[in-house]
Amino acid sequence: MPDSQPSAPHHVPIAGVLGWPIAHSRSPRLHGHWLQRYGIDGHYIPIPVMPEHLAEVLRAMPRMGFVGANVTIPHKESVLALADVVTDRAALIGAANTLIFRSDGKIHADNTDGYGFIANIRQHVPGWIPDLGPAAVIGAGGAARAVVASLLESGVTELRIANRTRIRAEQIKAEFGAKVVVYDWAQAGNMLEGAITVVNATSMGMQGKPPLRIPLDALAPGTLVTDLVYTPLMTPFLEEAQARGCEIVDGLGMLLHQAAPGFERWFGHRPEVDDELRRAVLG
Ligand code: ATR
Repeated sequence: MPDSQPSAPHHVPIAGVLGWPIAHSRSPRLHGHWLQRYGIDGHYIPIPVMPEHLAEVLRAMPRMGFVGANVTIPHKESVLALADVVTDRAALIGAANTLIFRSDGKIHADNTDGYGFIANIRQHVPGWIPDLGPAAVIGAGGAARAVVASLLESGVTELRIANRTRIRAEQIKAEFGAKVVVYDWAQAGNMLEGAITVVNATSMGMQGKPPLRIPLDALAPGTLVTDLVYTPLMTPFLEEAQARGCEIVDGLGMLLHQAAPGFERWFGHRPEVDDELRRAVLG
């Protein structure tokens, strides 16, 4: 139940990231860098929360001085039911990553992953024109949903998608509409034909996982190719795309950019995403 907060004098804003497990999250380092860089008196901490404790923890946080939080695996979907206000894009994606604890006690849930995805591309390829040709998305998990939403919002008129488990891609088509064209996983290489934007939204290629195995022969030079995986920064998929003359964008920038709107809301300063931040996060 929402209740209003009397604001304490000299209140130092606290934010954090809720997940289970949370030890490997890079968000504390990211926000910590910004806090230090801008000389802001605030804190950002990792908070391990088991799924069965999420509701209880969220209720207590505003009373502990928290102004908001990021949420990550496994809470991104379940947090929607616990929020008082859910943005349209979070509802469409079916997940939230950014919470704002409003002064009236209400929890506001947003999803900035799609924003981060597009901002990363625009930063590295300013001349990218999303509606110039089809986009191809490989994967249909939670991250893919944010990518699909943001590409369609950016004006993409044909969005091709293939996923190992086809039904998840069909589900995205059912929710996002006629611009989405589902390809069979065995035909994923074919959907690259004529595509001007290609995205790996699966976890394949991540450290400790096998690389994405899709024939890339149909990739034309100059195609914008990006990967959501950022460990390693240069995935086998990006390496091969680069060798084929494609314009590649690694996935770290999406993580950096998705963090900016939350930081601005919580700490009152629009932070910069630049090489200094990249270096700090890579540590
Ligand atoms: P996230 O929220 O990071 O997207 P997810 O919802 O578990 O995580 O989705 C992971 C994506 O990687 C899915 O598209 C998944 O395919 P399935 O829907 O078939 O599971 C994809 N993926 C993971 N391992 C894979 C593999 N070995 N081969 C092909 N696709 C894989």
